[in-house]
Amino acid sequence: MYHKQLDEFPTDFLWGASSAAYQIEGGAKEDGKGLSIWDKYAHQVGNTFKGTNGDVAVDHYHRYKEDVELMAKEGLKAYRFSVSWSRILPAGEGKVNQAGINFYRDLINELRKNKIEPILTIYHWDLPLALQEKYDGWESRKTIEAFVNYAKILFSEFGEKVKYWITINEQNVFTSMGYRWGTHPPKKQNIKTMFQANHYINLANALAITKFHKMVPAGKIGPSFGYGPVYPKTNNPEDVLAALNADDFNNNWWLDIYCRGKYPFFIKKQLENLNLMPEITEKDKAILENDGAHPDFLGINYYHGGTVQENRLQKPVIKDKEKQFNKVDPYLMQPKGDQAKNPEVPMFNSVENDYVNKTNWGWEIDPTGLRIALRQVYEKYQLPIMITENGLGAKDIVENGKINDQYRIDYLADHVLAMKEAISDGVDLIGYCAWSFTDLLSWLNGYSKRYGFVYIDQNDEQKGTLTRIPKKSYTWYKNIIATNGNDLSLLKHGEQK
Ligand code: BG6
Repeated sequence: MYHKQLDEFPTDFLWGASSAAYQIEGGAKEDGKGLSIWDKYAHQVGNTFKGTNGDVAVDHYHRYKEDVELMAKEGLKAYRFSVSWSRILPAGEGKVNQAGINFYRDLINELRKNKIEPILTIYHWDLPLALQEKYDGWESRKTIEAFVNYAKILFSEFGEKVKYWITINEQNVFTSMGYRWGTHPPKKQNIKTMFQANHYINLANALAITKFHKMVPAGKIGPSFGYGPVYPKTNNPEDVLAALNADDFNNNWWLDIYCRGKYPFFIKKQLENLNLMPEITEKDKAILENDGAHPDFLGINYYHGGTVQENRLQKPVIKDKEKQFNKVDPYLMQPKGDQAKNPEVPMFNSVENDYVNKTNWGWEIDPTGLRIALRQVYEKYQLPIMITENGLGAKDIVENGKINDQYRIDYLADHVLAMKEAISDGVDLIGYCAWSFTDLLSWLNGYSKRYGFVYIDQNDEQKGTLTRIPKKSYTWYKNIIATNGNDLSLLKHGEQK
């Protein structure tokens, strides 16, 4: 779709930036905070890059006023942060830690004082360790109950001060990393458990949203989902079909449940065949399908999409002598045991995209993919969308006290332009929170991979002065916000002021 002139961003567009508690706060054991699964996991040898952990992180817990001041100077209209569950409830349930409530209350007040809209994420991966140890975390319905109680505490404490709420961050990512690939806590590799835990998280999400609608009627709530559009490698109809499968498996599996309360039919059938479908009770169905359980807007975290093809390589062909054509039996494509481990094998095979560049960490750079993502999600679910994460992870170098991150400006400019195009197409986009405001701890990459507008002097040996230095991109974003994203000269590559 080509537009002679692009539409303007809405006047109340929420230009913001994001963070997550474990990645910035530090103060891991201070003022009554309980441990989270990440506090333990990051201290076990070999789990994170050079053993980096969030004990101190970037010390936002003590320096939040300085950070909010920097946000205000940049002109941020919104700031997305997450609450550490174990700071509020050290054991995940039971007694509330008043110091934890006070910390977030002070942060929210500070934001409001500076006219910055707080966007509160209830859960960004740091499950209280006590719940993991007592109930096996998300493998138990007990954790659903604990989550809803925790959410209720936040709704009653902050419901009047916070309008925008995110229930759960990237459920697709943390369930796969934690239960399939074994790279995040609880470091398991059992896909059946993954689907069951994922189902319980769906229930937790639906119940929390239902409660929210009763307790905070003026507020808006939704999950933040890690969305990637799926491209077929060629126009071979088999590749197109593979892309359809991958979109269902990677995206709709979550978004359909969030927005429609039902698992997508084709994948459900496939998982039933492989005995991988979670157990779902009639009561569960009622919880998920209840209208009040559906989001008011969708948070989309966008980094890149993916390309797939039909899984030719592993596809055995059985000669059907009678009919004289080649018949494919997808269930013969791999040994029986492995089918259940890799349910996507009969559906699609992920391949490289030849048309896009990559970051130093091998992530595809695809701004058009953002426009496509916005179009697809809006068309499917017709809900307002907020981009809750998008950004470039890069090694930043300080030279003469300055960080010239033109590469980040170029990346962000292309994505802001893609949003402007999507808005011109007709997408109801309400905000953009770049990842991230300050540099922060990357879960598995320490401080080598940086995303922030503000540099923080902290290294992988976790030694640094923690001094904050605004990067070149900070000023660029300040100008973007000041012109409401409508100055096209700021969206071109090159040397912007
Ligand atoms: C998202 C997460 O998946 O990606 C963030 O919500 C994370 O918490 C971000 O930091 C970037 O990931 P990484 O691995 O590059 O730090």
